[in-house]
Amino acid sequence: MARKAKLIVDKDFRIGEVDKRIYGSFIEHLGRAVYTGIYQPDHPTADEMGFRKDVIGLVKELNVPIVRYPGGNYVSNFYWEDSVGPREQRKPRLDLAWRTYEPNLIGINEFSKWAKKADTSVMMAVNLGTRGTSDALNLLEYCNLDTESYYADLRRKHGDKDPYNIKVWCMGNEMDGPWQTGHKDAKEYGHLAAETSKAMKAMDRSIETVVCGSSNVDMPTFGSWEAGVLGEAYDYVDYISLHQYWNNRADDTADFFAVTDDLENFIHSVIAACDYVKAVRHSHKNINLSFDEWNVWYHSTDQDNEDMENKPWRSHPHLLEDIYNYEDAIVDALALIKFLQHADRIKIACLAQLVNVIAPIMTEENGPAWKQTIFYPFYLVSKYGRGTALEPVMTVDDHPTSRHDHVTDVEAVSIYNEEKEQLTIFAVNRNTEENVEFEADIRGFGGYTLSDFEVLEGTDMKAVNSAKEEKVKPVRREDAKLDGGILRTVLKPASFAAIVLKK
Ligand code: AHR
Repeated sequence: MARKAKLIVDKDFRIGEVDKRIYGSFIEHLGRAVYTGIYQPDHPTADEMGFRKDVIGLVKELNVPIVRYPGGNYVSNFYWEDSVGPREQRKPRLDLAWRTYEPNLIGINEFSKWAKKADTSVMMAVNLGTRGTSDALNLLEYCNLDTESYYADLRRKHGDKDPYNIKVWCMGNEMDGPWQTGHKDAKEYGHLAAETSKAMKAMDRSIETVVCGSSNVDMPTFGSWEAGVLGEAYDYVDYISLHQYWNNRADDTADFFAVTDDLENFIHSVIAACDYVKAVRHSHKNINLSFDEWNVWYHSTDQDNEDMENKPWRSHPHLLEDIYNYEDAIVDALALIKFLQHADRIKIACLAQLVNVIAPIMTEENGPAWKQTIFYPFYLVSKYGRGTALEPVMTVDDHPTSRHDHVTDVEAVSIYNEEKEQLTIFAVNRNTEENVEFEADIRGFGGYTLSDFEVLEGTDMKAVNSAKEEKVKPVRREDAKLDGGILRTVLKPASFAAIVLKK
């Protein structure tokens, strides 16, 4: 018997407004993300500042509203003063996180300008590893204040009259991780984050802050870390971070597609931890979620570990240059659907990362920038996924995988954009063997007709793109039928669909 999935879409089943920052990303001083990634003065496409225009063009295509910077693990021993002002006076440094030589040719003076060129905004992280509140305050004054005071003056002396007005600030990075320079326990970190955030907000009332949650759901302290940190910092911060990377080391595609069932538990548990602390504090405020690192990451890991061990202190080495395949793109599509299903609490999410380092955009040093497979799910969801997320009321078949029971064949969510009179259904068929007959009841959307139907479909799960060839990219389909308010189509095995209807 044919496998089936039935979705009911109704304007009144609202999850919440999609915060556009859910389509954020991340640039760390790591590998070739910055040098020969966004910045390469001798590249034929370089602009007057040395930024690659081919890369800026692709970032604009993705329509990324916010980019986290400058780390990541890099930030935990970052001396921001060394990376601003006249270049000849900047101090090269050794980055302990990635065992790399950092020339400090790019700092916030340049990155703030790159962000403008790329139509994005900066989400800045402060160093709570080897530094603390006073350095965070100095950086905030340098970036955001227009006062007649030392660090605001210094920025002006460095040629930037107008403040950068950075609105979102991360209180360090992955401070629960023993690998982190300046790693702390939950109470110690929670206290430091609370005091830093409190002081920063005293300086600039317009900012929002993100406190570090666990580095991933499998950390031994997961759960107690969230509750412990928020126990200290609840009143002073706005978001808690979540990070997660997936892999298919077991080479089991069907089970790989089930990772978003674990993601559901992860998100659910973090919300529960936030609301538990809210309850015990008798608070009226909600802490929302900033999923500020997510992606597939494993293809390059063994080689990277070897290189960092045996060839340290190189400048912009090839690190974390995962080449993504078709199945990775499907997992990224599934993650984006999951974030949209939680649009009421997830307000920021950053695809980690943006250029060259576990990234949708790659650059050839002596050639073009090109799109990895994972470029496309992000592109489609960012393009069509703005508006109100609607609850996916679904009747759907399921299947077991090696490590998961009852994996639904189809995962879906719909986004209603009232202003544009547009309804989008995003759906992934996680069944790797069989078609699914998909039916969406959109009777509440009278007068809507099919406008775009773009899919990622493929039979070679290991297909990759390169500078020369795009094996994985969306194709258009025309064969969805809309009859009496019921939309019908067939979702191919292991595929992603964006179905767009307009009035
Ligand atoms: O994105 C790569 C690294 O992954 C980041 O630096 C760190 O925060 C995480 O462990």
